[in-house]
Amino acid sequence: MSKIGLFYSPAKGNTEKLARKIADKIGNDKIELILVDEETSLAELNKFDKLIFGISTVGRESWDAEYTKVGWDFYMPKLEKANLKGKTVALFGLGNHILYAQYFVDAMGFLGKVVMEQDGKLVGFVDKNNYEFKHSEAIIDNKFIGLPIDEDTQEELTESRLNDWLSDIKKSIGF
Ligand SMILES: Cc1cc2nc3c(=O)[nH]c(=O)nc-3n(C[C@H](O)[C@H](O)[C@H](O)COP(=O)(O)O)c2cc1C
Repeated sequence: MSKIGLFYSPAKGNTEKLARKIADKIGNDKIELILVDEETSLAELNKFDKLIFGISTVGRESWDAEYTKVGWDFYMPKLEKANLKGKTVALFGLGNHILYAQYFVDAMGFLGKVVMEQDGKLVGFVDKNNYEFKHSEAIIDNKFIGLPIDEDTQEELTESRLNDWLSDIKKSIGF
């Protein structure tokens, strides 16, 4: 069976913690973790048909706001030129539903929209009724287009949220 590519950024924080937890649960032999940085190329993505993307929201509504760019800020413009036809992608996004209720996991929404625009198949949508927030760019047809995780204020829910989501994507991502 071909490996799953788990692309994530930024390093060292909650996104990386979740990426490693997912790899442990799926099996480290079945998944390759790739930290997305300025150097990451589309060729690296093209090695995989089954993908998981992990991203945190640490800015507001735009990618060119005043903050230090992180991996996905460099990779999104490349993805906008990619052909993702035939690729299945599941997303997880880190956020904080209390401090940023108005922008909850927005970055996961921006990333997911690029995947869809480039013909990738998104899987692992999550019911929004299990979350409290005011607005999110990651909602389509009343569902989150990936798994929102709030390690800042709901760490105790992460395990069950993650397990439910992994059962949901098991077949489509193939593990
Ligand atoms: C400067 C800053 C801005 C943030 N903006 C948002 C936001 O707009 N929406 C949101 O849901 N979370 C926001 N967060 C919360 C982070 O997404 C959350 O702390 C996440 O776990 C960070 O993951 P990381 O350590 O992998 O970057 C923000 C955090 C910081 C420090």
